[in-house]
Amino acid sequence: MADATRDPVIAHFTANATGYAAQSASWPWSWLRARELSAVMAEVGAARATPALELGCGSGFYTRALLAAGASRVVAVDRTAAMVAELPTVGVQGVVGDAATVSLTERFPLILIAGMLEFVADPEAVFDNAAGHALPAARLVILAPRDDVAGWLYRAWHGRHGIPIQLYSRERLERVARATGWKLDRWSALAPFNGVASFTLAAAA
Ligand SMILES: C[S@@+](CC[C@H](N)C(=O)[O-])C[C@H]1O[C@@H](n2cnc3c(N)ncnc32)[C@H](O)[C@@H]1O
Repeated sequence: MADATRDPVIAHFTANATGYAAQSASWPWSWLRARELSAVMAEVGAARATPALELGCGSGFYTRALLAAGASRVVAVDRTAAMVAELPTVGVQGVVGDAATVSLTERFPLILIAGMLEFVADPEAVFDNAAGHALPAARLVILAPRDDVAGWLYRAWHGRHGIPIQLYSRERLERVARATGWKLDRWSALAPFNGVASFTLAAAA
């Protein structure tokens, strides 16, 4: 596991872990969160009483939403131990690990990655590892910042605290998906700077 004092992403989210859920409930984050939640959960649909895997779960904003949508339980992975410590405990297995390399004994029909891919140096490694944890015909839903003017402003904001940010276009997502066994089904822009995409596992992993 990376050293929190040297990794700007872990340092940033460790410093913000306590109170991260409370911040989501205060304006303007509450407004942004409500919009994103409804777009992401529309893609997720009913979770049909099956387990779900969440990569980059933070303190559990979407973990709670997955349980509310019917997931029987959620395996919730995050690199930042302080975030995992904030997860709900009922119905949730928190795992401190990197989405690109974590190795679990289980495969899932549904995988969610919300607000994490911008912090990842190698998104292909994350998609590849997600495919390795997916059941046949599994679905992957992501929320990630777009590669356009709004995304560039978001990147500049994170640049102020030394965090490099990855942005995503439909073409980039299609490229990453094709290389890792996923098929992009939909990619929709969501104001102000994010997009929501859903994928189906196209080939056996
Ligand atoms: C903006 S927060 C979003 C958290 C949560 N999904 C939410 O919407 O509240 C991004 C999270 O991704 C985690 N993260 C970043 N890179 C990661 C990686 N490679 N593997 C696992 N988690 C990662 C961070 O530690 C942080 O908790």
